[in-house]
Amino acid sequence: METAYSVQQIQSSYIREILAAASDKNVISLAGGLPDEKTFPIHLMKPAIEALTAMTDVFQYGATIGYEPLIVHLTQTYNLPETHRVMTCTGSQQGLDLIARAYVNPNDTVAMEAPCYLGAMQVFGLAQANLVTVSQDESGPDINELELCFKTTSPKMFYAVPDFHNPTGVCWSLEKRNQVATLCIKYNVVLIEDAPYRELRFSGEPLPLVSDFCPDHSIVLRSLSKIASPGLRFGTVSGKQSYLEPLLKVKQGADLHSSTPIQAIILGLLQHAEFPKHLENIRAIYRSRYDTIFRAVQAYLPDECKITPTEGGMFVWVTLPECDTYKLANELLANKVAVVPSPVFYPTSAEPPSAIRLNFTNADPEDLVTAIQRISQVLKNTPY
Ligand SMILES: Cc1ncc(COP(=O)(O)O)c(C=O)c1O
Repeated sequence: METAYSVQQIQSSYIREILAAASDKNVISLAGGLPDEKTFPIHLMKPAIEALTAMTDVFQYGATIGYEPLIVHLTQTYNLPETHRVMTCTGSQQGLDLIARAYVNPNDTVAMEAPCYLGAMQVFGLAQANLVTVSQDESGPDINELELCFKTTSPKMFYAVPDFHNPTGVCWSLEKRNQVATLCIKYNVVLIEDAPYRELRFSGEPLPLVSDFCPDHSIVLRSLSKIASPGLRFGTVSGKQSYLEPLLKVKQGADLHSSTPIQAIILGLLQHAEFPKHLENIRAIYRSRYDTIFRAVQAYLPDECKITPTEGGMFVWVTLPECDTYKLANELLANKVAVVPSPVFYPTSAEPPSAIRLNFTNADPEDLVTAIQRISQVLKNTPY
């Protein structure tokens, strides 16, 4: 049977290959976007898991929008206006897929930052969108480029990760948040604000969502994958009711609704008195790992390698002297370190800068230092 054209043009994923290679236990993997599994708050879910045995109703078919008591809780926590709704989905990745399927026709233009989250490129690629990119600096997207992009290509939506971006770790400044929201309103572009790393701020001051400045021109995706556990596959989509209605239609066709027992467990977790303490705990652990990797990069990598500082999230982005980063990543793998090379994060074949993405949340501090020492050796020994 012939594969659909939309699937035929999706490249096989380099990251999937590298993650498979990185599963060798002798490899120190800084490649995946994995939280540390020792932090999973399983003990905080235990009371809700045990209570399930007496909750026959959650094992019945449920509403597509989500488990009612959880929807009530989320509506309050997100402080949604009357006109807005939240729906639950199977990871925020499903939310993104629903958005693409509900709103993107082949050749519709979707704007995004470059570099960009791989899973978003895949979803919009499957929808056969025309992807246009805007470059990013240390405070967010280049505003002049963004305005030019909105003016000349009239994108339907602008997909962005303003809090601790994947792959660069960049967190948009308050000014950028305001400016982007203003442009979205002016050019009638819907902001798709993807915020899975937002709660992982370990230093600096919290900033408002970009969507707070353009609530009627935005859809927000949130996730429990990075702050609780990715295996739960739980995320949410929120926005104006009129924006969510088409998503509900698509979700109904996709899977009727997300697992209700899991949603009941999530409600128990979010309402657990110790959940805020759990968040503080993971922030402290990740902060110390970030400090470790930051210091190791400065101590061991050649001076021309520059690390972009961050105040949260899971990744650091290290720019390198011009080189073939695929070749470098393969050589590093031969030396038992897995990293992700920069071209993977660029949707177009335009020359990406030489850089690597390093995850600092899944390896312990000793391994982080060893990994950076190995990267340093490989960079010193091999001309690229
Ligand atoms: C920016 C971004 N959005 C969405 C996701 C997917 O998250 P989820 O596990 O909630 O589907 C990821 C996962 O790495 C991500 O980095």
